[in-house]
Amino acid sequence: MKILNVTGYEIYNSSIVKGDGCYVIDSSGKKYIDFESGVWALPLGHNNLQVNSAIIEQLSGISHTAYRYNHSVVEEAADTLLKIMNLDDGKCLFLSSGSEAVEFAVKIINKISDKPYLLNLDKSYLSAYGTSGNTNSGPWISIDWQTYIDNNPSNYDDLLKDIPFEQIGAFVFEAGNASGSVGLPPKELIQTIVSKVKEHKGWILVDEVTVGMGRTGAWFGFEHYNIQPDVIACGKGLGNGYPISAVGICKEICRLLEQTDFTYGQSHQNDPLGCSVAKEVITIIREKDLLQQATRSGLFLRNKLSELKDKHRCIKVVRGVGLLCAIEFVDSIDKQKLSMIHKKLFDAGFIVGLKLATNVMRFYPPLIIENHMIVSMIEALDYILEENPKIYNKGLIACEE
Ligand SMILES: Cc1ncc(COP(=O)(O)O)c(C=O)c1O
Repeated sequence: MKILNVTGYEIYNSSIVKGDGCYVIDSSGKKYIDFESGVWALPLGHNNLQVNSAIIEQLSGISHTAYRYNHSVVEEAADTLLKIMNLDDGKCLFLSSGSEAVEFAVKIINKISDKPYLLNLDKSYLSAYGTSGNTNSGPWISIDWQTYIDNNPSNYDDLLKDIPFEQIGAFVFEAGNASGSVGLPPKELIQTIVSKVKEHKGWILVDEVTVGMGRTGAWFGFEHYNIQPDVIACGKGLGNGYPISAVGICKEICRLLEQTDFTYGQSHQNDPLGCSVAKEVITIIREKDLLQQATRSGLFLRNKLSELKDKHRCIKVVRGVGLLCAIEFVDSIDKQKLSMIHKKLFDAGFIVGLKLATNVMRFYPPLIIENHMIVSMIEALDYILEENPKIYNKGLIACEE
């Protein structure tokens, strides 16, 4: 095998030949339903023909430009995206990956702010590299909210009492807590942090790479908090599989940045091809009313997962919002067995996410997922949890302990 696999994940199948909506198909014709949307990146599903047409049309014109000239689709995409971000009078920069977008966002905050610290929530995943790729050191102060609120629901005073808010340059909020609990952190907690940061003239930066573009039933995760961020980084779903990301920046930060010597050059920056995709993806989500659909389908999925929880005691919690859903298994579950359940589900034709460190199985299918697909995945998971009692009884006994 010539591919360097450093993701930390075992490859289950190397013969995928086609994607079609919620399905991924291998060379033998076997179909899998993709409850992971690739790597959270396909709100419209695989191989969307409207997106394909937009790509072909732009490719036949111009795909890539340079720093001193550009194509009108870039401005159109920026305008479309800034409107849904509620940053109409701000500006937008297009890059390629989510990591680049978040890292760029952090870079501009560091440029305009003289405050030494950045605040985030514990276990937020922000980037593969750079300052935002290492939140365990450097300027970061991480709030371990999950452990705290398990013991002190709805009182955040102790949790926040040692944070030097006057020295926080920005609160970098990853609404989906994708690497942690998977789900939206409590509203009051986020609103309290945001108001304290703002009170001390810090900025609010949100990482919408996983939860943006309709995943939670709203365009962006932050909309569930009645807050307006100053900087919004998005990626993944924005390109529906094509690598395009973006940073929306409020007017005031643009103004401050223009007063500095800040420059940033990257070959694939504001590329017309990616921008034509981003514009089309937003148009399709709007035209097909996929935000509503994500809300409806997410509710259906969580109801079905709750039925499973009632039946299988090894499932501790069901949570989520829109089509960002997760089940958490009991702490005592055998991780090897959990991996086996995951693999069996794959073999049965269902691709779901698994975060072994937190015993969390994640479900974030394309927004076009249909109820019958959800039902068939639930039936398969139910069967797998039930079958072979020798293997799973042991797990269930452990659950009861
Ligand atoms: C919340 C969040 N932010 C940023 C990123 C980085 O995006 P990318 O992998 O496209 O660089 C990820 C990737 O999983 C993510 O989940």
